[in-house]
Amino acid sequence: GTGPEHLDLAALEDQARTLLPPAVADFYAGGAESEVTLGEAPAAWRSWRLRPRVLGGLSAVRLGTSLLGSEVATPIGVAPWAFQALAHPDGERGTARGAAAAGALMTVSTSATAPLAAVAATEADSPKWFQLYRQHSPAHTDDLARRAGQAGYRALVLTVDLPVFGRRLRDVANDFAVPADLPPGNVPASGSVAAESPVWTFDDIGRFGELSGLPVVAKGVLRGDDAARCVQAGAAGIWVSTHGGRQADPVIASAHALPEVVGAVGDEAEVYVDGGIRAGSDVLTALALGASAVFVGRPAIWGLVTGGEAGVARMLDGLTAQLAHTMLLCGVPDVRAVPRDAITPAR
Ligand code: FNR
Repeated sequence: GTGPEHLDLAALEDQARTLLPPAVADFYAGGAESEVTLGEAPAAWRSWRLRPRVLGGLSAVRLGTSLLGSEVATPIGVAPWAFQALAHPDGERGTARGAAAAGALMTVSTSATAPLAAVAATEADSPKWFQLYRQHSPAHTDDLARRAGQAGYRALVLTVDLPVFGRRLRDVANDFAVPADLPPGNVPASGSVAAESPVWTFDDIGRFGELSGLPVVAKGVLRGDDAARCVQAGAAGIWVSTHGGRQADPVIASAHALPEVVGAVGDEAEVYVDGGIRAGSDVLTALALGASAVFVGRPAIWGLVTGGEAGVARMLDGLTAQLAHTMLLCGVPDVRAVPRDAITPAR
């Protein structure tokens, strides 16, 4: 069967690869430099072990939670990823429908192939966050932030780990370029631009919050001191991430950076994490370490490639079912309060 209980992400990735041109499959799968971070991410989650509680009389678990005030049915969200029309003709709208079907939060990339307002209007009642990249023109970046607020996004995610692009050697080897007939959804078609936008600093957190009227999440934080400065500057959420191993490499795995960030800001801000989450037990580990939610990137890509919106929903439902199953096995009743002592380092 293909039900959630049979979710096999490795098989899904293999199937996706057969459906994509090799250079596109490499663009989605690849990381930066020697791909050390990419390779270590899943293993870092597996450096923890569960400590099941027995005889607690637990027969059902609570999966729903609230993220910056938006209700979701699962603590597993979709990370922002670029150029979704390369993966499936439905593009970002397909992902939006799949996420909505699973009751999951979707984060929409600036590098989407559909305009931000069109994605926001797809399953408009299902919560979405908009991820902001710095544009060449400061006026354009500001305009995107304002429009994200007007379009109904519930938060603005500033990706702070991309002052410059990482070196993605697969893309260099493949001479990969986004096809010219794929119009960017959120970049002016022509006429840009005079001044190069200045690189972002902590002050931009408050500025973009005011421009958009939205809570700001800083995505790509790997240090407790940086997390604290982001929160002092007004961030409502900190998203621990290595950008899927696509920026600096090798860097500390998200699973290893998460405890320090939670220790620094966990009382004042929500903390999220992504990178190499591939099983319900990985999700439970992240929640035990203090994350409010996790996000998945490549699993959503493989879902969309192989099955469009239904593929995205099946992947999210499958991972969520794995999480519920693991919680039952471990005696953990509620994703909103997973005890730290539900896990221990493997040895
Ligand atoms: C990304 N990621 C990303 N992040 C972001 O903030 N804006 C973006 O446009 C993109 N684009 C993007 C494209 C592709 C092909 C990948 C694989 C990743 C990073 C993404 O949001 C997330 O941090 C990682 O993908 C999480 O790791 P996993 O789940 O892919 O292991």
